Amino acid sequence: MALLDEIEPYKQAALADLKSAQDMAALERAKGQWLGPQGKFTMLMKQLPTLPKEERPVVGKAINAAKAELEAALAECRQALELKASLPKVPTDFTAPGRRKRLGRLHPLTQVIDDIVQSFRKLGFAVADGPEIEDEYHCFDALNTPADHPARDAQDTFYLASGDGANNSGSCCSARTGAWLLRTHTSSVQIRVMEKQPPPVRIIVPGRVYRRDNPDATHNPTFHQIEGLYVDKQVTVGDLKGTVEFVFKQVLGDDVKIRFRPHYFSYTEPSYEIDFANALTRKMGREWLEIAGCGMVHPKVFETVGYDPEVWTGWAFGFGIERIAMLRYGINDIRLFYDNDVRFLRQF
Ligand code: DAH
Repeated sequence: MALLDEIEPYKQAALADLKSAQDMAALERAKGQWLGPQGKFTMLMKQLPTLPKEERPVVGKAINAAKAELEAALAECRQALELKASLPKVPTDFTAPGRRKRLGRLHPLTQVIDDIVQSFRKLGFAVADGPEIEDEYHCFDALNTPADHPARDAQDTFYLASGDGANNSGSCCSARTGAWLLRTHTSSVQIRVMEKQPPPVRIIVPGRVYRRDNPDATHNPTFHQIEGLYVDKQVTVGDLKGTVEFVFKQVLGDDVKIRFRPHYFSYTEPSYEIDFANALTRKMGREWLEIAGCGMVHPKVFETVGYDPEVWTGWAFGFGIERIAMLRYGINDIRLFYDNDVRFLRQF
């Protein structure tokens, strides 16, 4: 039984060999040495015929059992080495400082718009939207703007070239009702909303508007407005003033004072300009600063959209976002908003 007694020590030695292999090449070498064609266990098998016949099955079975055990150990070692090879060579230093991902943030104009929208939401206003490419009807005619109003002048408004109707000649007084233009104010959305829904209406409209201004520290051909429209029964200037005051206090702080100055807009009667004053305006050396236009919706506008002006009353306003953002953040040049310089934008 000498051969049978050799199997266990060989197996133990083979297992130790396989387990001590540090890489795939060493493992393959160990495998060859023990299980390969010239390996120890193959040699043992080859000695079987030299044994007495009755011993051969027992010894053969023992050799095969040891080989199976070694094959299993080999597979395990292979897996462990593969895992080891896939790990980074330099161990991870879990105490090293992390790499910070720089998060983006909302543009300062978006932040101001969001704050204003939020304040109006508290009062039950819904956000409405309209096209930036507008027709002359919604931008001017339906808002009761006279045919000879300077806002219609091609020097003030971007008209879009089109085969019919558009008149880019620059003459201010021709009827251009079919012309397309870039909206000069968000007031056009008042009309679009009232055309579509019956009263009452309670909307605000944040949006981009366009005017033919040369860019300088306080002007840009593209800027942003928020329009508001409130239509119901027995709406008063008092409601308008209270609403504006509430929102301005929310957005600019409790020390804000506002005043209404008589003005003219074709789509409101009476019309006002809104001035406000607070620590910011005083810092600029100004007591009052003009911020918005507003008024009671003109009966003609109601008639145009099919609302009965004997039944319905309303107010509307429009103010510029940029001016509020400039005051709030102490920005002295409007063009900075559009440069998209992250060094500037990151500050807000
Ligand atoms: N659309 C005016 C502008 O762009 C602002 C304005 C004034 C809007 C009076 C209104 C309003 O809704 O009633 O200067």
